[in-house]
Amino acid sequence: MNLLSKAILSATAALALTATSCQSAKFTGDTLRMDMNAYTEGTVSYKGSEIAYRAYEGIVYVASPVDTDYQTMNIYIPSAYFEGGEVNGYTAKTAPIFFPNTVGGYMPGKAGTLAPGMGGSESASVAALANGLVVASPGARGRTTQNANGTFTGKAPACIVDLKAAVRYLRHNKDLLPGDTEKIISNGTSAGGSLSALLAASGNSKDYEPYLKAIGAASERDDIFAASVYCPITNLENANTAYEWQFENHNDYQKMDITMLDYHVERKLTKGSLTEEEIALSHELAKQFPEYVNSLALSVPKNNTKLTENDSKTGELNSLIMNYIEDSLKNKISELEKDGTADSEKKKAELLARPYIKTDSNGKISIDQFAFMEYIGRQKLPGAFDSLNANTGENSLFGDETTDFKHFTEYALKNSKTNAPMADSKIVKLMNAMNYLGNAQSARYWRIRHGTSDRDTAFAIPVLLALSAEQKAGATVDFYMPWDVPHSGDYDLEELFAWVNTICK
Ligand code: DHB
Repeated sequence: MNLLSKAILSATAALALTATSCQSAKFTGDTLRMDMNAYTEGTVSYKGSEIAYRAYEGIVYVASPVDTDYQTMNIYIPSAYFEGGEVNGYTAKTAPIFFPNTVGGYMPGKAGTLAPGMGGSESASVAALANGLVVASPGARGRTTQNANGTFTGKAPACIVDLKAAVRYLRHNKDLLPGDTEKIISNGTSAGGSLSALLAASGNSKDYEPYLKAIGAASERDDIFAASVYCPITNLENANTAYEWQFENHNDYQKMDITMLDYHVERKLTKGSLTEEEIALSHELAKQFPEYVNSLALSVPKNNTKLTENDSKTGELNSLIMNYIEDSLKNKISELEKDGTADSEKKKAELLARPYIKTDSNGKISIDQFAFMEYIGRQKLPGAFDSLNANTGENSLFGDETTDFKHFTEYALKNSKTNAPMADSKIVKLMNAMNYLGNAQSARYWRIRHGTSDRDTAFAIPVLLALSAEQKAGATVDFYMPWDVPHSGDYDLEELFAWVNTICK
């Protein structure tokens, strides 16, 4: 050990000692106080620079845990913050706290580490540390979690309750922990994106209180500052109808095995075509969607007229969605043109040759909507989220201690082909961010990304979430649909942390 690290260690030991003595004086018996001595040290490299950190791993964040494999959190802190240092202009007092969940497919997710992402991709948490953020990555129970007796212990609303409890743990230890608990920024993808949005939407809502109490969550606030949301599988009550409204009359599919919904795993596709009965169901579901859209009483951004929609998809919501997609295409083309290399020219030519892209006599580029949706392709069958066979990941999310699968929409229940019961409507409500925007202490800043090649849920779902966050909760929302990006997240870390810096500095 060199002299400097010895000096740092003894300084920290002194700091920790002070913390411990104040802790025992003030919080005797409080099992939710963080032990600042229980850490290991390490370094990670990001874009050529080395970042030294302290790791506090496996912290159980509730006093009465149900499952300590999942109700734990890993916290990583730039070592500089224990030495009075600065990283990227942040200090131990001002550093935002990056709060990435690891949930996919509404399955249980373990506390996140600093290991590389899928396929060796850069880790968002490492990028966060390099940008001077404190990283607190919570685990959460999920729809398949069971105890030794085979009782399900992670059905809804367990996953969101766990994330809230982890936020409360951070606030409960804010005097010990470097980082600003008023700058918590959640991050998640797919089901995890939905949870990131829900955590951000539902701050301090009393609806979750009994569940938080039952697991011994700290008595603290659970609102957060901002949310990064990738391709959220949210608004499940309306996801069936939104999906058919988008893919109506697109009857060929490439479907995913139910066990592979999780975006973390390799996804295998099976090809097929809808039966007559499935096509009829598609029409039935599709025609229910506009009524929901109209009930939201949202406005068209910029001109403030009421946002409405209809069966023939000629309303403002449809225009808005297609505008986002066309803007993304135009940006992609400009990017390739700016690049100017032979390879970019070739890519541009290939792009413009796609069957759904039209170029008029003035060189104006547009997208043929029907041809575009055909190209993107249906991935799910009608009853995409609440299926008449009650066998989707979402049906499993809404099970209970002894019942694995339940319906959660009246229509699927009424037309069910199984004897699956209906989920408790209060629990269904607890899982949808849309229900809390404007009705809770919602986050001020949102960054929502949903790729133009994403077929896991309808484009209307993230668009309505973005509009609602802006208009119902008064949030500042950065929404974009990156070109050709499939169902995935954490693919634009530089931009993600540029956004973090903009909202925090
Ligand atoms: C995920 C994907 C889905 O298509 C879905 O219905 C639920 C979750 C996911 O990747 O997390």
